[in-house]
Amino acid sequence: MINLIAGNSSEDLAKKISKKLKANLVKSEVRVFPDGESKITLKGKISKNKTIVVQSIYPPVDSNLIQALGLVSKAKEYSNEVITVIPYLGYARQDREFLPGEIVTMKVLGKLFKGVGASEIIVVDIHSDIGLKFFKIKSENVTAVPDLAKYFKKIKLKNPLVVSPDQGGKERAKEFAKQFGSEFIALSKTRDRKSGKVKIKTTGLDEVKGRDLILVDDMISTGGSIVKATEFLKKQKCNRIFVACTHALLMNDAEKKIRKAGVSKIISTNTIPGKTSMVDISNTIVKAIR
Ligand code: R5P
Repeated sequence: MINLIAGNSSEDLAKKISKKLKANLVKSEVRVFPDGESKITLKGKISKNKTIVVQSIYPPVDSNLIQALGLVSKAKEYSNEVITVIPYLGYARQDREFLPGEIVTMKVLGKLFKGVGASEIIVVDIHSDIGLKFFKIKSENVTAVPDLAKYFKKIKLKNPLVVSPDQGGKERAKEFAKQFGSEFIALSKTRDRKSGKVKIKTTGLDEVKGRDLILVDDMISTGGSIVKATEFLKKQKCNRIFVACTHALLMNDAEKKIRKAGVSKIISTNTIPGKTSMVDISNTIVKAIR
């Protein structure tokens, strides 16, 4: 029987994956000390067989990262093959040196996971494929787009159109539109590398008038990208706006800001558990493991 270690940040998702794989589910317990250190304890035994570790790296990012590394390292003491599933890979946006002197933290993560003994990495909708090349072990990026598109097929929409808030997400929106069965467009966005502020560069857009829109993105952090896109699209007199994203971090009051801008509903997956994570991606992960 294979082993599956459920990291603290992905307990429910890990349970679902484990059930489907009929694995030996081993939970982990985490105690965070007042100084911020995590003390991680496995609550079960691991056999010599293959082990899967499931741990998302969402906030508190550094704490969840050290837990993931600790679990992989512990698993490697028993098992030769340790498949590391990181449903949401924090730091994935730090995959290049945007400004001189910046540390490409993805490069560091690549070394760390290999160093502690991961034999394979599976992530979901990584920000960009560039991030994967830093893992010098077998790695795979699976997509939640078909799962999200399936969910939206159940909602009655008026002449729907899929929209990417930026050119970087064009292929994702194209795939969503293909699975969902509609057309798609991609806006142009710029981000100030120092302040992080975003601006929509696209001007006038007749084709969104009176239509229900689905904004498709890989992730929502501060909500800045979705708010700017929504404000622009509302000015173009679209009908309702829905958001489909894989990873809803929704930091601080992001959800409130997005709703205030005019978004009717945000739908995300359980790579990050929360109020909006209506779409389960355990089947997609299981397929990748098999
Ligand atoms: C950017 O290129 C990404 O695809 C997301 O649009 C972005 O990271 C979301 O961040 P925020 O919600 O802070 O704008």
